[in-house]
Amino acid sequence: MSGHPSTYEPKYAAAKWMDQRLPIIRMGADFMTFPSPRNLNYWYTFGGILALCLVVQILSGVILAMHYVADVDKAFASVQRIRRDVPFGWLLQSMHAVGASMFFLAVYMHMFRGLYYGSYKAPREVIWILGCAIYLAMMATAFLGYTLPWGQMSFWGATVITGFFGAVPVVGESLQQWLLGGYSVDNATLNRFFALHYLLPFVIAALVGLHVWALHHVGQNNPIGISAKTKEDTLSFHPFYTVKDAFAIAVFFVIFAIFLFYLPDALGHADNYIEADPMKTPPHIVPEWYFLPFYAILRAVPSKLFGILLMLGAIVVLFVLPWLDTHKVRSMRFRPIAKWFFIIFIVMCFILGWCGAGTPSDVAIPIGKGMTFYVLSQIATVYYFAYFLIILPVLGLVEKPLKRPDSITKAVLGEQKSDADLASA
Ligand code: HEM
Repeated sequence: MSGHPSTYEPKYAAAKWMDQRLPIIRMGADFMTFPSPRNLNYWYTFGGILALCLVVQILSGVILAMHYVADVDKAFASVQRIRRDVPFGWLLQSMHAVGASMFFLAVYMHMFRGLYYGSYKAPREVIWILGCAIYLAMMATAFLGYTLPWGQMSFWGATVITGFFGAVPVVGESLQQWLLGGYSVDNATLNRFFALHYLLPFVIAALVGLHVWALHHVGQNNPIGISAKTKEDTLSFHPFYTVKDAFAIAVFFVIFAIFLFYLPDALGHADNYIEADPMKTPPHIVPEWYFLPFYAILRAVPSKLFGILLMLGAIVVLFVLPWLDTHKVRSMRFRPIAKWFFIIFIVMCFILGWCGAGTPSDVAIPIGKGMTFYVLSQIATVYYFAYFLIILPVLGLVEKPLKRPDSITKAVLGEQKSDADLASA
């Protein structure tokens, strides 16, 4: 699995026996000694954090599924029963719901890190594309899961999203009915959403396996984007990065615990504690916070079909990013112009999120001189696409990078040439 030569020597007869038949211990040992660039910072701990988030979601989800009833007449009550009567059900249910938000928080940090350090560039295109596939699967899983508690937002959210498919020309209506298993969101829909929501996390786990395999094949990028050339440029993954990752994971899970124990409902929508009522549309149908920027893109244009295409395009463009940003320097630390466009890009993503949270009546409200939410979301949408389709490709041709250090070791140790120099100093 790993791209570096194995140094594992089985010590015990049983380990040797196993190694000749299935080198699984060797694989684990090679993983632990994997040479990682010596300058990885805390932004590089989010991969490990994400892996743990996935484990938390799967474990809590499997136990929740033992008590959940996927039937439109019982689903809402079954979740309430989990929260009130099942031993530690309140903990599991909150952990799963808060966990989804924490998972997305971590994935956004991980993705922005990748964008800033140019981790999508050769030879890491496949790592990036697998990451995009994971993100897409995460979005689908979160959407399907949100339907399960059968609250008002579950029902109406599912109605709105599946309604998008109805806007596809010619086949739209049939496609929508095929997805729903009927003419509207009902029992058949809830059942298939539950089945898929249970399945997808295991697909994500498989994709994560490929993601990490690809990472170990080509090696990790790092904050200065210069490839490791000598042994000195790297450190063994264990103990250096296991300890660093463990510390970051502990801090992350303290934040997780604060939400879990003190603010379990802060990230959700109050309307989802009202049982789904197909006869009563909530005044404001809004997705979870992590979908808001895409929701703003969807609403930035008056045409439903065009809005949907834009929203899909916002994700598709991520898949092709390695071929859009052609600048030979990876890290934006050495790209003085791209860095500023990147900062504006982040601001625009927040603006999109803010606009996405606005009610339909908010969109026309003035928020500055001649500016409305609607206009603001259009500006941010244009910037989002321009960043990938115009700014990065053009900068790839014209931007002059800053001088980069000769090696990772030089960047870390400065004038000292090696660890030996440091030791003798
Ligand atoms: C369940 C979700 C994910 C898990 C468990 C995961 C796991 C990891 C791990 C363990 C690493 C190495 C450590 C690190 O760099 O932080 C990594 C690196 C990477 N991931 Fe992910 N990842 C996930 C999602 C994503 C997504 C959504 C993307 C992008 C769309 C992505 C893109 C990358 C890239 C480009 C690298 C290489 C970073 C570098 O070497 O600079 N990952 N991932």
